[in-house]
Amino acid sequence: MNRPDSDIRYPTGLADLNDLDLFSDGQPHDVFRRLREEAPVFWNPEKEGPGYWVITRYDDIVQISKKPKIFSNALGGHYISYDSMGITDPEAQNAFLHMLLAMDPPEHNVHRRLIAPAFNPNIVRKFEDGVRNKVRELLDRIASRGECDFVTEVATPLPLWTLSELLGVPEADRQDIIKWSNEALALLDPDYFASPAAGQHVFVKMFDYGKRIMALRREHPADDLTSIMANTRIDGEGLPQATLDGFFVLMILAGNETTRNTIAGGMRALTEFPEQRRKLCADPSLIPNAVEEMLRYVSAIIYMRRTATEDTEIRGQKIAKNDKVVMWYGGANFDSEVFEKPYEFDVTRSNAREHLAFGIGQHFCIGSQVARMQVRIMYEEILARFPDIRAVGNYRYLRSNHLNGLKSMPVVFTPE
Ligand code: HEM
Repeated sequence: MNRPDSDIRYPTGLADLNDLDLFSDGQPHDVFRRLREEAPVFWNPEKEGPGYWVITRYDDIVQISKKPKIFSNALGGHYISYDSMGITDPEAQNAFLHMLLAMDPPEHNVHRRLIAPAFNPNIVRKFEDGVRNKVRELLDRIASRGECDFVTEVATPLPLWTLSELLGVPEADRQDIIKWSNEALALLDPDYFASPAAGQHVFVKMFDYGKRIMALRREHPADDLTSIMANTRIDGEGLPQATLDGFFVLMILAGNETTRNTIAGGMRALTEFPEQRRKLCADPSLIPNAVEEMLRYVSAIIYMRRTATEDTEIRGQKIAKNDKVVMWYGGANFDSEVFEKPYEFDVTRSNAREHLAFGIGQHFCIGSQVARMQVRIMYEEILARFPDIRAVGNYRYLRSNHLNGLKSMPVVFTPE
């Protein structure tokens, strides 16, 4: 455990979490395990930046998340750095710094309360029939083929549909939304862009679209989240443009990528633990718990960052004011002090729901119920129709240490 100014950077010979190659097959479990055991509060230097603390133990992440006054989101936002995501456009950086995820209380509470009604369980329940119809439509399209790309043909279109309904994005614009959503988080992935600079235009497009749709909702308010944000006035003033831009980008990224990757990663887990798939087919009442286990096992968002607002300590290690503190959910969700046999995917795990995939505390995922409902309905429908569905390898992951993202995953099943 080193202080930031120490000469000895890697006392335990542990890997550098800036190295995106570590994440080329999903979570780097061996690295996280060694960090938890040997250096639970570990200093990771950065080439272009001051470095950051790596936190991988469950209890530490809970403590940090519940102290927003000491561990701030507003000081620097939720990414390790914009460089680490390839985001160089100043307007985009500004929007990220004004989104809900980059607010502290009391401002955070005010903004969260604005959108909370749209995520109330009764509203979420109203979406269930639509989600089930959408899943059936997606499965109808592949049913006779006996194979498909599970990511692009099944896991991607469902959250896109749900999010578009929540936001009020018209049918004709939805393919743009998914393209931007994919691209904005893939600026460092050569499958998408030769360099981050080549992808910055995606933010301009998202902001322009957000402005257009909000202008429409000011003229004709509808029953959707975009109308709420477009027409909100605080002390007689509309919300600042950067906040509106940030809202739109956050909703698109948070709603699409995470749910898709939990659905897709869940399929990989069921493939690698086929007896668990058989259990679910034999007893579909286990599916809600299996969803929690998928959330834990996939940990779709790998990390979130905070910044210390004062000198403090974590597990006895001194943390200086302004130090970046990065919480690795992909580490905490496999902490053997909380989850017995953590590397086993177990749909009957009694405490699966204690995972931190949605975070905890002040910024706990506001879309958690929408996400859970979609993953559950997806697996209720898939396993009833294609009980032998399984992936056949060739997992292709997004080049990212923030998002545990599958780009493609072929599956096979007995055709209908
Ligand atoms: C499986 C799917 C999902 C996962 C794993 C996930 C995960 C997370 C995580 C880890 C956080 C941050 C927690 C923290 O920093 O303490 C978060 C926040 C957030 N999520 Fe999700 N999320 C998912 C789905 C969704 C959906 C479907 C939506 C919207 C439709 C959504 C909207 C948000 C928003 C707006 C925030 C910011 C909340 C705040 O700052 O108060 N998420 N999510």
